Amino acid sequence: MAEIIRISESPKHENQEVTIQGWLYNKRFSGKVRFLLVRDGSAIIQCVVVKSEVSEDTFEKTDLLTQESSLKVTGVLVADKRAPIGYELHVKEIEIVQIAQDYPITPKEHGIDFLMDHRHLWIRSKRQHAILNVRHEVIRAARDFFNDRDFVLIDSPIFTPNAAEGTTTLFQTDYFGSPAYLTQSGQLYAEAACMSFGRVYCFGPTFRAEKSKTRRHLTEFWMIEPEVAFFDLQDDMQLAEEFVSHIVQTVLKKRRAELETLERDTSKLENVVPPFPKIHYNEAVEILKKNGVDFPYGDDFGGADETVLSAQFDKPVIVHHYPAEIKAFYMKRDPEEPQFALAMDMLAPEGYGEIIGGSQREDDYDTLLKRIREHNLDEEAFRWYLDLRKYGSVPHSGFGLGIERTVAWITGTKHVRETIPFPRLMQRIYP
Ligand code: 4AD
Ligand code: MG
Repeated sequence: MAEIIRISESPKHENQEVTIQGWLYNKRFSGKVRFLLVRDGSAIIQCVVVKSEVSEDTFEKTDLLTQESSLKVTGVLVADKRAPIGYELHVKEIEIVQIAQDYPITPKEHGIDFLMDHRHLWIRSKRQHAILNVRHEVIRAARDFFNDRDFVLIDSPIFTPNAAEGTTTLFQTDYFGSPAYLTQSGQLYAEAACMSFGRVYCFGPTFRAEKSKTRRHLTEFWMIEPEVAFFDLQDDMQLAEEFVSHIVQTVLKKRRAELETLERDTSKLENVVPPFPKIHYNEAVEILKKNGVDFPYGDDFGGADETVLSAQFDKPVIVHHYPAEIKAFYMKRDPEEPQFALAMDMLAPEGYGEIIGGSQREDDYDTLLKRIREHNLDEEAFRWYLDLRKYGSVPHSGFGLGIERTVAWITGTKHVRETIPFPRLMQRIYP
């Protein structure tokens, strides 16, 4: 019995007989030789079947195999410089596991709705496979970054009694006869935990009933949110730039092959090292004006504004000091200029928009209570949150990074729907 290996392990098995288990990606016939492209999730390898070297039965099986049929192939791994992974399999035996009938995704072009309806199969294709591998690496790098800096992972709840990010995008569910909401952000719970552990992060799915059909919005997306006691806005911005730089540099190091498959211009990513440019909201408005954008002072930036702003820089840019009026209730105001919140957003280059939102939090009990009332939030649901300002309140800050927008930027993917395995959008909950 030949050893079963993953295709990616080929270099360790040169000239050995091995078995590969996978699916037929494509095949090509050339007289008495047949070339099977087999993928197993780790890579794709070309398997060469020569008529004079195999049994009649094995050779005939190559006729039966259709795209995405599952199979086991046994043969000898031979180095081949022309092959993308550097090896070919010289086949001795083929075992068919199942013949796939009429696989719907063919090498021809398909429309986006068709592909989205077949997302469960689409994720097998080269490009989607590469994007999801990068997503995996982004998440691993993000976790490693915090774990290596002594942050404690705190899982925040999905069912919540209150809104963290405004009441307009809440998904309501019935919780044994009372309303409950799917979480929009784990932040408020991370704040509680950071008073216990000093530095924490949460990472999980978050939900927003976004009625906007843009290429940057999902209704279910994943957010990683650090929260640190005794951190001010400056500390927060510095943590954010080190974090994003770590993620990008890790993907560049470990996922070259995927970025190549995606034809990503990596020169733009090499540059992503601290310090990032940091500009005041007023300065950002000036930039928009200079670029001919008719922007009403005091508003939040829209997608188009963010694109103009980020185009001025070759790295992500951090905009800080947004007007307090347009920002969340929990943000602390700058005592020096109280019309501004101690808030910051990080905008990715090349038009990928906001990837991080964060702030220093209001730490004074009376001020926070006032804000909760001003925002017409249910005081009772926030009693526990107010407690944090009663028992050893300290300055603290944090931020949230959206995984999908980050992956879209790093992979150069236009729409966030391709950066999550099974996207949820306003008009899509299938498959
Ligand atoms: O700016 P946001 O709303 O910030 C918060 O939720 C804070 N509570 C985070 C914190 O301070 N702990 O969202 C943070 C990030 C955005 O910058 C964006 O990357 C992503 O989450 N995001 C979305 N991604 C995809 N689809 C959506 N509908 C998103 N909404 C926000
Ligand atoms: Mg935001």
